[in-house]
Amino acid sequence: MLKRILHRGAEELRRLYNVLAVLLPSCALTRLADEALRFRHRLNDVVRRRKARKNSEITPPITAQTHTSSCLRREILEKTTSWSELNIPPCPVPSMLTLDEMRYYHYISSFYSGAGAVVEIGPWIGSSTYNIVGGLLDNPAFSADKHLYVYDDFVWRSSWMNKWLVGTDIAPLNNHDSFLPLFHKMTGAYAGRIEAQAMKLMDAGDNSDVPWFKWEHGAVELCFIDCGRALKMNETWYKELSPHFIPDRTIIVMQDWQNFKNVPEQFWENTKIFTDSKQGRFDHIHELRHSGTATFIYRGKM
Ligand SMILES: C[S@@+](CC[C@H](N)C(=O)[O-])C[C@H]1O[C@@H](n2cnc3c(N)ncnc32)[C@H](O)[C@@H]1O
Repeated sequence: MLKRILHRGAEELRRLYNVLAVLLPSCALTRLADEALRFRHRLNDVVRRRKARKNSEITPPITAQTHTSSCLRREILEKTTSWSELNIPPCPVPSMLTLDEMRYYHYISSFYSGAGAVVEIGPWIGSSTYNIVGGLLDNPAFSADKHLYVYDDFVWRSSWMNKWLVGTDIAPLNNHDSFLPLFHKMTGAYAGRIEAQAMKLMDAGDNSDVPWFKWEHGAVELCFIDCGRALKMNETWYKELSPHFIPDRTIIVMQDWQNFKNVPEQFWENTKIFTDSKQGRFDHIHELRHSGTATFIYRGKM
């Protein structure tokens, strides 16, 4: 029955397509193609959400170290989530994050067990850092000897960074100046718990004197990646960090993952292509409704 309905539906669509292709001008067809792409993304969103609901339990379980000791579970594009009601302190650092993401950074940090390091790549001037450390400090596993390791090339790019300071009392830097001092100033409240270093993930013309990203601190348990969407960027951190990932334990939060849904498509939005290319090593557990973030558990070699 369902097969017949789908077959009829596909035939009707094909007929409609033939009529539209003859009658409509190219600009209208382009708009229709964009609408069809949006529709495709929405349908796939529903499919991923349904799959996650069916298979919400994560094995082996990963348990929060704070308050409720709740278990991590799959939550894809849900309206109400385990973090949506979380009360977090206001973040004093100008931010590219949504409130949902800030809550989420606190939430996911509660699952840190101390089995490896916490790494952040792409903090800009530190609002993500502020929320990650804020969350970690509520977690007894983030003991006094532990740090958040933070990497960025810290090269100011006026063309897209200045606008995020509008409405704040922070003056934009000169193009290509280092913003590491500004990062330190903004995250000063947590200075003792942060180790920040300028390192690059990709040559960007303006960061030629910045060293390449290197990892020398052993096992990695929790990573926050917000450094861009190019395959080269993602392959650089993956090559360095993945030999230190703990299978079934390491959590990887990828801030731009959902940008593949942009319409029209943009050739530089490669984050989903990157995770898909790892063929099952990235197990998708969270997709935030109010941001581009998605999170994965590293499953090791398949
Ligand atoms: C979208 S911003 C991060 C926003 C930040 N997480 C927040 O909370 O506001 C992306 C970051 O990637 C960094 N970045 C861009 N290209 C880079 C490269 N080639 N190497 C290292 N970092 C880079 C930028 O300096 C910027 O800090």
